[in-house]
Amino acid sequence: MKFKEILFVLAIGTAINAEYVSYENYKVYKVVPETDNEVQILLDLQKNVDYVFWSDIIAKDSDVKIMVAPKNQEEFENYFKNVGIPTKVAIDNVQDAIDAQKRRPLDRNLNNYSWNYYLSLEEINTWLDSIAQRFPDVVTPLIIGNSVEGRFIRGVKIDFKKQENPVIGMLEGGIHAREWISPATVTYIINEFLTSTNSEVRNLAENVVWHIFPVVNPDGYSYTFSDNRMWRKNRNTANHTTCGSASSDMSNGIDLNRNFGFMWMTVGATLDACQETFAGPVEFSEPESRAIANYVLGLKNQGNMVYYFAFHSWSQMVLVPYSHVQGEEVLQAPHYANMFEIAMRGMDKLREKYGTVYRVGTSAEILYAVSGSSFDWVKGVAEVPIVYLFELRDVGEYGFLLPPERIILNNEEIMAGLLEMDKVTRGLGYYRVASSAGRIFYSVVLCLMSLLLAM
Ligand SMILES: *[C@@H]1O[C@H](CO)[C@@H](O)[C@H](O)[C@H]1NC(C)=O
Ligand SMILES: *[C@@H]1O[C@H](CO)[C@@H](O)[C@H](O)[C@H]1NC(C)=O
Ligand SMILES: [Zn+2]
Repeated sequence: MKFKEILFVLAIGTAINAEYVSYENYKVYKVVPETDNEVQILLDLQKNVDYVFWSDIIAKDSDVKIMVAPKNQEEFENYFKNVGIPTKVAIDNVQDAIDAQKRRPLDRNLNNYSWNYYLSLEEINTWLDSIAQRFPDVVTPLIIGNSVEGRFIRGVKIDFKKQENPVIGMLEGGIHAREWISPATVTYIINEFLTSTNSEVRNLAENVVWHIFPVVNPDGYSYTFSDNRMWRKNRNTANHTTCGSASSDMSNGIDLNRNFGFMWMTVGATLDACQETFAGPVEFSEPESRAIANYVLGLKNQGNMVYYFAFHSWSQMVLVPYSHVQGEEVLQAPHYANMFEIAMRGMDKLREKYGTVYRVGTSAEILYAVSGSSFDWVKGVAEVPIVYLFELRDVGEYGFLLPPERIILNNEEIMAGLLEMDKVTRGLGYYRVASSAGRIFYSVVLCLMSLLLAM
């Protein structure tokens, strides 16, 4: 190694050691509430910033995972003993799981990336550059805006046929920084669309013009590599405040997936900057959420926008909009019945691959009611017909710290699910409604049919 390189390595080494938040001896506890009262106890506890809830589900008989620092573990265990709810240690030392997740091969080469380790933001950007160079006739690099800290929000457009008025789809990854499997899935899908020889993949890749963004929260994603592996929000420090006994850094960000202007701040979000679900001071306060929304509205004028999929982790679910409705109210979302059927059939196919089970439903039904998320906005305001939020692997064994050996398995089963979902969507005729004139025609036909049926 040359002297300059040695200095460089040393500099990086110390920078990481000096700043990176350590989770040494942090434990993740598993708690399963069995009554409404026990659910309420957990919901109340969630407001205590010393206890970091990894689970989005806090419902009867669901596994709730809670991360606790060494100094709070005794108090935590005593509290649960007193209220009579059993706890189990799910992860004994969070830092060990983080270190395991950050393992990467020594002979790595981005031109030969095979989803066997997690890429940093810089590596993802380099990889995007390399595919744009390798497939210049098909791939157009995109920048749809800047983050709070001025990073580009980057993506690619994949257009094989250059048709007028095409079917359009958009994929969103990495809106929640710590959900590393999300960008790893989205980059994999890009690669499959460009390189797979499977005829079903070719269909999906070539019959849709894809707009794909692996990391829409680049500041947050970068921060999970440089400072705090468990960071979720963006990095807006405008509402900085002290957060009780927790680190005041907690207030330096807004949950982008609560910041969109549809049902904003009505449920499952907060104006408290010290919470993970801080929705921002007003709807669309953040440049990242505005960039996504503006881009979607622009796409609507370019053709028949059929798809919008957002990728998150973990829980193994396909969430169908809207996130605040359950029971009969789910039908408030146009095309709900079709969206549900498409997702169910897709997840049957997904399960055939490696036996992984995904649940399907609205967030209010299978998680809890939330508002201000990107996919609900895309459905409710941009009126895109087939919209989902995927919660990828696993169901809490590793949670956000999914080991790198499992990336490829997750990606392959998701691809199998997407192919089936597209088949069902095409079968239901969504590719055909190609122009607004066509859409009006179909509405008139539907109207006449329902009149006839009513007679
Ligand atoms: C590409 O990756 C494979 C498996 O990870 C490895 O065996 C091979 O040597 C690599 N090739 C190059 C050119 O780096
Ligand atoms: C949060 O930040 C925004 C943007 O700077 C500002 O308008 C708002 O007043 C702040 N709210 C609080 C409570 O500090
Ligand atoms: Zn998420």
